[in-house]
Amino acid sequence: MSPLELLAIAVWVMLPAYVPNNAAVLAGGGRPIDGGRTLGDRRILGDGKTWRGTILGTLVGVALAYLLNLLRPTVVSFLGISFPVFPLAVMIALPLGAMLGDIVASFLKRRMGRKRGAALPGLDQLDFAVVALALSAAVAPGWFLSVFTVGLLIVILVVTPILHVVTNVLAYLFGLKHEPW
Ligand code: CTP
Ligand code: MG
Repeated sequence: MSPLELLAIAVWVMLPAYVPNNAAVLAGGGRPIDGGRTLGDRRILGDGKTWRGTILGTLVGVALAYLLNLLRPTVVSFLGISFPVFPLAVMIALPLGAMLGDIVASFLKRRMGRKRGAALPGLDQLDFAVVALALSAAVAPGWFLSVFTVGLLIVILVVTPILHVVTNVLAYLFGLKHEPW
């Protein structure tokens, strides 16, 4: 497989995990998941993790996976790249895992004493992708092994942080996000 094909497949399979975080930025607000509660003297998750952002972000990701499945035959015949079909369990696992990964990272950041919005380079850029992949592997192991070669996983681990940085800087410049990370 050519590097360009590998890159295209990496972006295709990860789109349902990439978009929920951005959708949450647009949809966020309202009641925080932790309800304002603290653990010790710090918030459990903080005001940056809301029910609305999490639920709408997940739904947008599921809808996107569904849309990609619909578009797939056309795109495959047009580009000749064999993009995979998302099974139903994966349509849910990718966005839900992405949102959970981001929430776990906030939990860890609060335990480390970092306030809402503080950056944690490395974790911020990969948390959602790692948990999205792990959850997909757990719910559909056969599908996962047939799609994710070692080469594809490496491409994903390289491309994801780059895309994350670029989208967040853009969201910041457009005034959609408080911080550029
Ligand atoms: N957001 C949300 N629910 C989520 C994730 C994000 O409502 N599960 C919204 C919040 O408005 C949040 C914004 O998207 O402020 C940006 O997301 P993120 O950078 O993940 O949150 P931070 O505010 O930076 O908080 P943290 O330090 O906990 O990451
Ligand atoms: Mg943040």
